[in-house]
Amino acid sequence: MTELVRTRVELAKARAALTGTVGVVMTMGALHAGHETLLRVARERADHVLVTIFVNPLQFGPTEDFDRYPRTLEADLEVCRRAGADVVFAPDRGEVYPDGEPLVRVDPGRLADDLEGLSRPGFFHGVLTVVLKLFHLTRPDLAFFGEKDYQQLTLVRRMARDFDVPVEVVGVPTVREPDGLALSSRNRYLSPPERQAALTLSAALRAGAAAADRGEHGGEVLAAVHRALGDGPPGVEVDYVALTDADLEPGPVAGPARLLIAARVGTTRLIDNTAIRLA
Ligand code: PAJ
Repeated sequence: MTELVRTRVELAKARAALTGTVGVVMTMGALHAGHETLLRVARERADHVLVTIFVNPLQFGPTEDFDRYPRTLEADLEVCRRAGADVVFAPDRGEVYPDGEPLVRVDPGRLADDLEGLSRPGFFHGVLTVVLKLFHLTRPDLAFFGEKDYQQLTLVRRMARDFDVPVEVVGVPTVREPDGLALSSRNRYLSPPERQAALTLSAALRAGAAAADRGEHGGEVLAAVHRALGDGPPGVEVDYVALTDADLEPGPVAGPARLLIAARVGTTRLIDNTAIRLA
């Protein structure tokens, strides 16, 4: 049985009733098969699964899609039930931020200055602030985050370590459509031709990974990505292509690495990334 709680008082009561280990999956709703995989991994790894659904205003920029972000609670609850979640915490804004916007926010540090942070100033302050609050409200033993948002996963890991949050942060591989497109709540904004154009992102990452598999070095891997992007289909505006080490520190020369890409397709910003190994 999945219990829906809307207030922090109800949440505290539901949380106290859970014995054994608790795994949390934090989301902004509009749940798709990527989220569902997080729930299923959580189900396997923890005795109980707690899902949070909250569209966090703090992480949206003034020109971003906070107002039009999809809100589909009934369908989301169905996904949670299907995946065997024990508790769903779906608070409204005043429940999470009773004093309005918080005065004090988590400073994500220099790893947030690059990549997503460059075009979305304040984004990771907003993400880490709500994640820390939700850690305190839900008190999980394990927390599951998707590799799809690799910079977010990395920063949440760092925050847990730097702030001594007693939680194990577990990364879950990206779930894709059969044609390679990484699942995202924002994919529903794409028109059919935009969706087709969006395949360029995952195709470019595959080209980079193939170059790495052939033993090519970092510069050649990046060149392969850019070749695959070519002039790009119309309407695709690449924001960045980056090659980092597995912790998002700059430029590895050998071993495990991460290849990341962001692009605007029409008016929709999409991100994707993949693990690669440099010879
Ligand atoms: P949201 O975009 O709803 O994503 C919730 C979780 O699902 C994140 O950990 C994200 O990485 C994961 N996820 C999304 N698409 C995925 C895919 N295709 N495969 C695997 N995992 C995927 O990320 C957020 O919400 C928010 O920033 C949040 C952490 C909830 C804080 O507000």
